[in-house]
Amino acid sequence: MNKRKILVTSALPYANGSIHLGHLVEYIQTDIWVRFQKMRGHAVYYVCADDTHGTPIMLRAEKEGITPEALITRVHAEHLRDFTGFYIQFDNYYSTHSPETRHFSEDIYNKLKAAGLIAVRGIEQLYDPVKNMFLPDRFVKGECPKCSAKDQYGDSCEVCGAAYAPTELKNPYSAVSGAKPINKSSEHYFFSLSDKRCADFLRQWTCEGDHLQPEAANKMREWLGEAGENKLSDWDISRDAPYFGFEIPGASGKYFYVWLDAPIGYMGSFKNLCERENINFDEYWQLQSDAELYHFIGKDILYFHALFWPAMLQNAGYRTPTKIFAHGFLTVNGEKMSKSRGTFITAESYLKQGLNPEWLRYYYAAKLNSTLEDIDLNLEDFVARVNSDLIGKFINIASRCAGFITKRFGGKLVAGEQYQALQAMVDEHFSSWRPDAIEQAFEDREFSAAIRQIMKFADEANEMIHTLAPWEIAKQPDCADDLHRASSLGIQLFYLLSCYLKPILPGTVQQIEAFLYCEPLTWPQLGADQSVSSLLLPAGHAINAYQHLMTRIEAKQIDALIAANRQSLTAPEPGSPARHAEKQQHTGVAAIPIAETISIDDFSKIDLRVARIVNAEHVEGAEKLLKLTLDIGNEQRTVFAGIKSAYDPEKLIGRLTVMVANLAPRKMKFGLSEGMVLAAGGGNPSELFILSPDSGAHPGMRIK
Ligand code: MSP
Ligand code: ZN
Repeated sequence: MNKRKILVTSALPYANGSIHLGHLVEYIQTDIWVRFQKMRGHAVYYVCADDTHGTPIMLRAEKEGITPEALITRVHAEHLRDFTGFYIQFDNYYSTHSPETRHFSEDIYNKLKAAGLIAVRGIEQLYDPVKNMFLPDRFVKGECPKCSAKDQYGDSCEVCGAAYAPTELKNPYSAVSGAKPINKSSEHYFFSLSDKRCADFLRQWTCEGDHLQPEAANKMREWLGEAGENKLSDWDISRDAPYFGFEIPGASGKYFYVWLDAPIGYMGSFKNLCERENINFDEYWQLQSDAELYHFIGKDILYFHALFWPAMLQNAGYRTPTKIFAHGFLTVNGEKMSKSRGTFITAESYLKQGLNPEWLRYYYAAKLNSTLEDIDLNLEDFVARVNSDLIGKFINIASRCAGFITKRFGGKLVAGEQYQALQAMVDEHFSSWRPDAIEQAFEDREFSAAIRQIMKFADEANEMIHTLAPWEIAKQPDCADDLHRASSLGIQLFYLLSCYLKPILPGTVQQIEAFLYCEPLTWPQLGADQSVSSLLLPAGHAINAYQHLMTRIEAKQIDALIAANRQSLTAPEPGSPARHAEKQQHTGVAAIPIAETISIDDFSKIDLRVARIVNAEHVEGAEKLLKLTLDIGNEQRTVFAGIKSAYDPEKLIGRLTVMVANLAPRKMKFGLSEGMVLAAGGGNPSELFILSPDSGAHPGMRIK
């Protein structure tokens, strides 16, 4: 076999947050692929690290009253604990706050500078005069310049989706101190991406050589523009003190922006591994390296990995990545993960609730492919799929057949003529079966296709065992040979399935290796003129007694997991104004009796929709009404709502609410009203509360 040299990375998680099930899509995807390659005997290294620099981490440490170093040390331990809990097996899990990463950051910077690709320019930015620091976009808040929604971040509005510069915000304030920011200029260092050398190189790199998935390549072409168009602007790679990061050589008080040293952290982590294990670093990173280099990332950070990173490497004289593998985002039950719904699930809570990490590995594998499509964790489907595939089709084979081998045949599988008969049965049944298709699917990161084929194999194995029915044979007199062959067949097929599932279920398969009393399972490689039976355990192989391997998931375990992760977004801090408001809320609510009972059919006649208020204005001459323009996905409606006493029209623009979409239109003095918005009220005109869906809902969604 031609032994490949492969270096694999996953994105470096930020050191200021916990690992959640969204992150795990990536680390599980990468880990499965790495384990598969290792099982095939290739030389693979999988490295990662915490991404430790930047303003958020600096401020978070300050808030906790500790040093950034103490914070990142603690988080590093938490991250590694969570990853280990999910069987993510890095060859090195390091930190970007390391001498190695500093070394390569300075080295790459110096080489870019020597190549004339570093420029220095003064720029104006918002500055917090109380905290004495420049404010990153996310740390400036204010009113959206488009829709006037309050408390929006400095880069984009979460209400109307507009993107803008922080200087465009109305009534801006510093999220750090609350102070009104001032404009202040300062010198920044730029990587000259607009230089022709970079643009030409990137245009070629993103188009040729298959470095990117087709969708990713298209996106890059959009960002790059046509030849000669030069859409790339220079990249600001410096930040002013105070900043937690590496100081730029020869530029006191200036630090490398976190995204400069973050990907260099891949090199840093690998260098650290090389020192420890005597690996030749240069063989992997020098220009003419014959090693393969793969970065697994989420689609949100494609820009950094497919443009900035290759351009940096190329111009600093290092090799560039072989391929960038981007994946989509995780949704839970079809929606963005949400703290209020309890679907923002941390890795830690999953493990603490006693859920089996391999259930999730299996489910993700069953959903993953090589594209950038989002993947959905449907919790009902999760329970059903794991129970039916893993327990029903896989584990059950062993639990049904192993007892006979142990009790009746001294733990030995069939040998001699019986073994040949077994081989013949397997070859006949699986004559048209192509195990290399499973291998190819793993190689191509088409894990869902791999699982489909593995489960097809499992279905056929179960069919054979059901037809032979060892548990029936056992009831017959003089059945020893038949029983021995049938139950050995079950164990042999179980062995093969275990090989294929090992990259996905490393923990269970380790137990299986003990049960089957064999060497660590490697990838079953079928030679050109070999048949499936040549892959089986040898004749007369002895196994250990079967011990319980995996339990079923109970739906109530999922309920408990959701409950444990549900956070009330409205729980105010003790003593806060909101808390006092709560106390007074009961005034004005008279004891109104509940209306007459209706059937579900009555209720379902009402078509309720999520609507976005795209405009709200006063109506001339109307005492109580506001004129609302509502977007319900594929159309806009005008509705006159009697909420003027409680709402300022400007404050409504941009927010989501609920409307009755199939109410007969009503002609009013001021125009046609095409529906109704829902509001709660206690009788007092200023006490009116329009409804809002939880965050993540889209205009047009039906409410049932
Ligand atoms: N620190 C940067 C990466 C630097 S790489 C040189 C970062 N960190 S992160 O913690 O926000 O994300 C780490 C990885 O997890 C990213 O690839 C990101 O796309 C992925 N995911 C984070 N949330 C995710 C989902 N909800 N779904 C799928 N992947 C997600 O970005
Ligand atoms: Zn807005």
